[in-house]
Amino acid sequence: MTHRFRDLLALEPLSADELTFLLDQSKPFQEIQKHPLKKLATLRGKTVALAFFESSTRTRISFGTAASRLGADIMNLQAEASSLKKGESLLDTVHTLNAMKPDCLVVRHAASGAADFVARHLDIPVINAGDGTHEHPSQGLLDALTIRDRRGKINNWNVTILGDIRHSRVARSDIHLLGKFGCRLTLCGPAMWVPRELEQIAPQAAIRRVFNVEEALDGADVVIVLHPGPMNRGIEISPEVADGPQSCVLEQVTNGIAVRMALLFLLCAGHDEEGTHPSSEAQQPVNRRATDVKDPSHASR
Ligand code: CP
Repeated sequence: MTHRFRDLLALEPLSADELTFLLDQSKPFQEIQKHPLKKLATLRGKTVALAFFESSTRTRISFGTAASRLGADIMNLQAEASSLKKGESLLDTVHTLNAMKPDCLVVRHAASGAADFVARHLDIPVINAGDGTHEHPSQGLLDALTIRDRRGKINNWNVTILGDIRHSRVARSDIHLLGKFGCRLTLCGPAMWVPRELEQIAPQAAIRRVFNVEEALDGADVVIVLHPGPMNRGIEISPEVADGPQSCVLEQVTNGIAVRMALLFLLCAGHDEEGTHPSSEAQQPVNRRATDVKDPSHASR
């Protein structure tokens, strides 16, 4: 089944079918990362606006590289050197970018709900590249793709999320996604970072809280290590774990480009034309008139 997405603001409102579709769409783009020549012409003539109001290494470069490898032009807001410094508002800034006619806007902002706010005011697709402590949907997807590649599937695993979960938008996206696939989630960290209300954030997910690592990992059949970055080595993760054989950290980064190419393809390749998947093995028409998808722009925060 194909699905149509206007925006990608959160994983919470998406179904397991929709999430599987997004992961499957990323597969051919993973193959393209292995080619010596990685550039496609799929989005030639399109423009992707990157509006990062908060610092980023991976997500910003990954979306930019994904757009470039699809042949799109990039409009890049440098927040530190922009008129934000003169007091221009978020809304005036994104209206200004939109007036230059990009086909899609990727936004990161320190405020939860900022991406949803922007999407409600623009007439182009908006992708949330991380908003406050709310969600980081492309990171959730690349995490799931990495787990699926390493373990063959994402259904029904026991997954432990360690750290400052209270303030982690990545943890929220992961919980929403993995909960839809029947994973049982153990949230582990100091009590102040794993508050009781987290047990309720994804009603479909079985969530427990524990406060020491030994208990969190008790009974694990296999351990793989994911980290969204940036890593604070020696503070939150030891070099032995970050660089050990179970670490998938750099696979996550590579997979991020594939996921973001798929998202840009699905959202930008045309509300005005039928798109075909750039992989010759997967010439699947994208049904842009399908109505079987909830509009993620209405995601609650
Ligand atoms: N994973 C992630 O969001 O990293 P950046 O903050 O470097 O983009």
